[in-house]
Amino acid sequence: MCAVDLPAVILLSMQYNLVAGTLAPYAESRPDLRPLLDRILNYEVLGSFLLTEIAHGLDAKNLETTARLLPSGDYDLHSPRFEASKFMPPSGVVEGLDRVAIVFARLLVQGEDRGIRPFVVYLSKNGRMCKGVTSRLMPGRPGSEALDHSITTFTRVRLPRTALLGSHDRPANDRDNFLSCIHRVSIGSIAVSLMSIPTLSVSTFIAAKYSLQRTVTSNSSEQVPIWSFRTQQIPIIRAYALLAVMKSFAREVIAMYTRPGIDSTVKSALVCIVKAFLVQQSQDRMLEMAERCGAQGLFLHNQIASLQLCMRGALIAEGDVLVLCIRLASELLIGRYEIPVPRCPQSFLARYEKAFFALCKENLSEIKDHRSEQFNQQILPLCRPLVEAISHRMAYEAALDSGTVDRPLLDLYEITTICNYGAWFAEQKELDMSAKKLMELEEMAVSAAVPHLKRYMEESEAEAYVQAPMLVRENNEAFINGLECSSGDDLQGVLADMYKNAFSHIPSRL
Ligand SMILES: *[C@@H]1O[C@H](CO)[C@@H](O)[C@H](O)[C@H]1NC(C)=O
Ligand SMILES: *[C@@H]1O[C@H](CO)[C@@H](O)[C@H](O)[C@H]1NC(C)=O
Repeated sequence: MCAVDLPAVILLSMQYNLVAGTLAPYAESRPDLRPLLDRILNYEVLGSFLLTEIAHGLDAKNLETTARLLPSGDYDLHSPRFEASKFMPPSGVVEGLDRVAIVFARLLVQGEDRGIRPFVVYLSKNGRMCKGVTSRLMPGRPGSEALDHSITTFTRVRLPRTALLGSHDRPANDRDNFLSCIHRVSIGSIAVSLMSIPTLSVSTFIAAKYSLQRTVTSNSSEQVPIWSFRTQQIPIIRAYALLAVMKSFAREVIAMYTRPGIDSTVKSALVCIVKAFLVQQSQDRMLEMAERCGAQGLFLHNQIASLQLCMRGALIAEGDVLVLCIRLASELLIGRYEIPVPRCPQSFLARYEKAFFALCKENLSEIKDHRSEQFNQQILPLCRPLVEAISHRMAYEAALDSGTVDRPLLDLYEITTICNYGAWFAEQKELDMSAKKLMELEEMAVSAAVPHLKRYMEESEAEAYVQAPMLVRENNEAFINGLECSSGDDLQGVLADMYKNAFSHIPSRL
């Protein structure tokens, strides 16, 4: 049976991308690391990636865990205070599997700080935690209860000299060295963001199928599916429009990201743009899909809510999207670098992006220092909307040029986005985008797309991953019969008690 098992995806991406991916370049010149790399790739050992700490997330470059070089050549790994504990990758004992981690710590050589470096550290072996390693299991996170998120503390853990990845010499540039040590994080960020596509696909399929099956009694006392209501159709068709655009955009970004010789700043810009778009947009739509399933949509077992909650982690994992947007937008506004220019500068979304960028830039022109209070108050709130405007334009262009997106879906995506920026469009008289016109255009696109629902459902190939019990009568009944159950076996007794209680407040003399 297929499933969309996000905790499994998270473990896999940590194992292969973060752990094996960080280790691999070092294994080129260190054959002694290859057996471990093989074991990780064969999943004979569990990998964990311990970078961030309780007190240091996005500012991981200030992390406090230390690895002190000892006269013997070994290292002493230590969390100097509670806030320096690693937060929140899984680190506890798993039966039958050893757990090894890439741990980031500040390398100290004779009292000198030589920057943050990766170390290979065994957390548990043969079913027991290794000496000096403490793992505290976090309470479950909604939507991913299966993951053992933990807080990991090191108390004078002795590491062999081979634990350090790379040389212990001072790097030429601390910042560049740190960024190169954590280079797999940005790849992980794209990979996890891409999970927005299958999760939204499954959620939309569920909401669509539910809408086709669930009926209400019409005024003529016949049963009509709730799909017949425009208020079900619009959000579901809109989700299919977004999905179609997301798929084209994802294909294009992957091609750009993996192009040989691409500049690393452009790469990190792409990560931010993709994440801001895919994860945020799909969050909004998944919430809507759950809502369209009424009370059933509230429950984790009907999949949508659990997928949506678990994917919320993707907004934060490998860099909180808001902060990534602040960094990117600030650099774009200051002119440090540029992102790909619009291919269709006359499109509505490209015009909006250009105008919004100009507005931000104009505002910035009065501000001298990007660390000032004025920058904080006026520019920071514009950063995320600016990145979103860029990503909408890029995604639209990708969909347009792919030639694979159904016209009504592409139109609906465009109109939905224009509606979000309605105030600006209403001001541009020459574009003729009044509120009334937008309503008409939306209605036209929805009407053109609605007859194709079944095809969109089929083409999404989501059905194989749908498990929500509410969609199949027999499954729902089996599911409900399997629930914890309490029932009174003595019906007479129950009724007698009920009557007694019901009338007990009535004085007996009546
Ligand atoms: C139900 O109501 C609509 C609108 O009032 C009406 O046009 C339609 O004829 C009604 N259907 C029946 C079967 O009564
Ligand atoms: C920048 O935005 C603020 C509001 O956040 C506004 O008061 C100010 O006038 C703007 N400055 C420019 C130059 O547009």
